[in-house]
Amino acid sequence: MDDRELVRRAIEARELSYSPYSKFAVGAALLCGDGTLVTGANIENAAFSPSICAERVALFKAISEGKRRFLKLAVACEGDHCRPCGVCRQVMHEHAPDMIVLMANLNGEYVRTTVRELLPDGFSL
Ligand code: THU
Repeated sequence: MDDRELVRRAIEARELSYSPYSKFAVGAALLCGDGTLVTGANIENAAFSPSICAERVALFKAISEGKRRFLKLAVACEGDHCRPCGVCRQVMHEHAPDMIVLMANLNGEYVRTTVRELLPDGFSL
């Protein structure tokens, strides 16, 4: 799947965000090594700390379905291109250190980078 299509799917996934507290919707689309696509959106909670980012929803959905190889993840939100938070970068580093990351805005414009660029020298055991 090409970059632009993956970004389009992330923008579409954002529509399913549950974000009544921040009112900041984020969507993600993850291309897995087996060619399948898994989407995610941020899900918030009244207690705040149980909230989870779109990127981790997509990754955890995929991992829980048995997927272990991840090629490319697009993340989209309003404003400038969407930058994954530090927690999501650490999760990506654990499961997909060589993955490509497309950081997109809602016009479909994006910056192409990698997990290694986003989190150099990340923690692992
Ligand atoms: N959020 C994401 O889903 N991904 C990011 O990369 C940054 C932040 C979510 C978390 C929270 O629900 C809302 O955006 C505001 O921080």
